[in-house]
Amino acid sequence: MKRTTLSLAVALLSGTVVGQSVMAANNEPIQPIAPAKVSNPALVELGKKLYFDPRLSKSGFISCNSCHNLSMGGTDNIKTSIGHNWNEGPINAPTVLNSSLNVAQFWDGRAADLKAQAGGPIANPGEMGFSHTLAVNMLQTIPGYVAEFKKAFGTETVTIDEVTKAIAAFEETLVTPNSRFDKYLKGDKKAITKDELAGYKLFKDTGCVACHNGPAVGGNSFQKMGLVEAYKASSPAEGRSAVTGKDADRFNFKVPTLRNVEMTYPYFHDGAANTLPEAVDTMARIQLGKKFTADENAKVVAFLKTLTGDQPSFKLPVLPPSSDATPRPTPFEKK
Ligand code: HEC
Ligand code: HEC
Repeated sequence: MKRTTLSLAVALLSGTVVGQSVMAANNEPIQPIAPAKVSNPALVELGKKLYFDPRLSKSGFISCNSCHNLSMGGTDNIKTSIGHNWNEGPINAPTVLNSSLNVAQFWDGRAADLKAQAGGPIANPGEMGFSHTLAVNMLQTIPGYVAEFKKAFGTETVTIDEVTKAIAAFEETLVTPNSRFDKYLKGDKKAITKDELAGYKLFKDTGCVACHNGPAVGGNSFQKMGLVEAYKASSPAEGRSAVTGKDADRFNFKVPTLRNVEMTYPYFHDGAANTLPEAVDTMARIQLGKKFTADENAKVVAFLKTLTGDQPSFKLPVLPPSSDATPRPTPFEKK
């Protein structure tokens, strides 16, 4: 009898301990990325083609993939993007990877979601330099596309609404699960090293997680760039106030995701930080008033590198050929 009571007590006790450790994992400020669920493969396939198709630009030279290169973490790895007529944009291209997890799109959140965002670059004179009407007319002259739009939407006529819906559906598949850090979060304590874990502790204890949290380790709020110490940006961008018109939102930017951050250099909305140690040093100083030692900085950087997940992997799309009726592209103006 005594024995039974004792083992029951032990079972209860260990039950509590197990319960607590599960609780602790759930209480982490960062959660694992869930793999994409594809409900409409025809739509995703069409969106993938559009994403890679430079014919959606006036020059026939620039696709979404030019600036959000899926071989390079969904970015262009340059300070600010180069668009139509070699236009150098005012702001760094954020990654499209895991962008479906963002509270809103763009550094200032001016697009509510991926569908609302996707029409922007096509008609932006400094990006793809085209117009929605021209893009849709162009697609209508390509029999392969007409057939695919019919398959995805059931209608013969192509609309910009369908174009942006398809691109957004493709972008929703661009999530990066299975990073070493996610394996750690799911209970594989050996998935990260002692130094990487120490970096994660610093990331939490210093307060980085106040802004960089959730599955995307960011992307879910707008925060002041330069909370403790002012930031001298090399870009004229004003941030969130451009959308809300409120002075209090001046220089508030969407907190970027830190998923795959080792691949998405250079950093910050002005692309001014070339390396991760530099970005981490700046963040600690101007957001939290903390100066990391070289050793602390190295540990935080080591942790950040565990956030690289499975990169999108798919068959490179073969684009349906233009017909004789397809308008030919307009070359860049000579400088
Ligand atoms: C010429 C380069 C260029 C091209 C082409 C381009 N983008 Fe972008 N993209 C950018 C830049 C720069 C930003 C940031 C602009 C801002 O925040 O004001 C951006 C922002 C985004 C964002 C928001 C991400 C975030 O975290 O806020 C998404 C999503 C996106 N682009 C998808 C696309 C799609 C889809 C296409 C093709 C239809 C495309 N882009 C074409 C440069 C480009
Ligand atoms: C008060 C909110 C806040 C805190 C705290 C904070 N960050 Fe940030 N972080 C941001 C914002 C906002 C940006 C984008 C700012 C910009 O580019 O103007 C950013 C950008 C970054 C970037 C660059 C990412 C990219 O793709 O451009 C890195 C890396 C980063 N933070 C790491 C950290 C680390 C490490 C800490 C802790 C030492 C930290 N952050 C603390 C809000 C915060």
